[in-house]
Amino acid sequence: MTPKINDDEVLRYLDTHTYDETMEHFDISRMSIARIRKRNKLRFTPNKIKLAIAGLGNSAAALIQGIEYYKARKNNKGLLHPILAGYHISDIELVAAFDISKQKVGKDIAQAIKYNEIPSYIDIVETGVVVEMGEISDGVIDQTRNIIDPADVAPVNISESLTKNAAEILLCLLPSGADEAVKFYANQALEAGCAFINATPTSIATDKNIARKFYNKGLPLIGDDLQDQFGGTIVHKLMLQQMVSQGLDVKESYALDVGGGAESLNTIHRSREVKREIKSKSVSSSLNITAPIVAGTSDYVPHLKNGRNSMLWIVGEGFLGSEIVIDIKIQSQDGPNGGAILADIIRATKIALHQGAAGAINEIACYGFKKPPKGTATPEKASELLADFILGRK
Ligand SMILES: NC(=O)c1ccc[n+]([C@@H]2O[C@H](COP(=O)([O-])OP(=O)(O)OC[C@H]3O[C@@H](n4cnc5c(N)ncnc54)[C@H](O)[C@@H]3O)[C@@H](O)[C@H]2O)c1
Repeated sequence: MTPKINDDEVLRYLDTHTYDETMEHFDISRMSIARIRKRNKLRFTPNKIKLAIAGLGNSAAALIQGIEYYKARKNNKGLLHPILAGYHISDIELVAAFDISKQKVGKDIAQAIKYNEIPSYIDIVETGVVVEMGEISDGVIDQTRNIIDPADVAPVNISESLTKNAAEILLCLLPSGADEAVKFYANQALEAGCAFINATPTSIATDKNIARKFYNKGLPLIGDDLQDQFGGTIVHKLMLQQMVSQGLDVKESYALDVGGGAESLNTIHRSREVKREIKSKSVSSSLNITAPIVAGTSDYVPHLKNGRNSMLWIVGEGFLGSEIVIDIKIQSQDGPNGGAILADIIRATKIALHQGAAGAINEIACYGFKKPPKGTATPEKASELLADFILGRK
């Protein structure tokens, strides 16, 4: 008879060893370790998704409003999946939040999110979760200082706060280009034993060294660079895909957008080239198109606030070489446009925790990110990959 494995022994061993070493030492599977962690860790609550957010800006404000808005379950309009693997968006419970802005730190999140550009779609009652001071690092640049004025208080210990508040997932919504700060929060998640979702363009899930650290700790890592529910990138992909499947030859294309808010300033002043490369590759790589394609953010228009105008231009060649031109403009609100995808990604990450999946999870990333670890897929393929992952078919 195989000797009964003692949970305490496994957990103690896991503190100082990798998942692989623990599996080998006790001759148990990855799933068995996940079950032991579930059995023993208070932080793993089956019915709630305990989320912490770093960066309480416009995207966070949209997500937090969405959790409240759909709680009443009066309608599901705007959601991609009202229920995902048994979880409703209102099963997401915010347990900790970190920011550096003077206007937000020290306030209940219900108040703090009002200091953003996105409109109030719904009133949020006090939650009891107070925004804690994060590590400033490279979170602010000269061009954004009049929008993000850092608080003059000492940072809290992020990993300690994550542990104290029993956070299961840390969602990173820091500004574009704040590479050092994003890496810092990823390390804090690792230290606290949290899954990490990186919505920013900084390479985290696509960085093999960081992904290996999450794998060794048995933690899911999701990213990089969130894709909007219905923004320039997805519409561009769908249009090109349809043209190709209708037998047209794509000759050239661009998708350029202008927006307001700190995010547009950050993109323009420090991540424009990175974003342009990510967006262009995201659009073309899953379709094998060789025509010149440019996609990126072109300017900052302060009065657009959280709004984004995306201009899409495609030239195709049809029968007898005749020209077909597509010229579209999409007007959207940045924050809400990321909300439904975030709600799906957070719930899928919870499933990854249930399954004991570790390291960069391409199946989740492909569905909601512009730069997944193994390259982009067509929207249908990405949905198929996510469904297979959730059903445990992969
Ligand atoms: N639809 C979307 O909203 C969308 C889509 C794709 C990607 N993203 C990515 O999500 C991220 C957030 O976007 P946003 O529009 O909410 O940005 P935002 O500028 O509105 O918010 C950023 C927040 O981070 C805070 N911050 C700055 N440095 C910090 C630090 N060191 N520690 C803690 N907080 C810090 C700021 O004070 C601010 O509250 C960006 O990287 C963006 O590229 C968003």
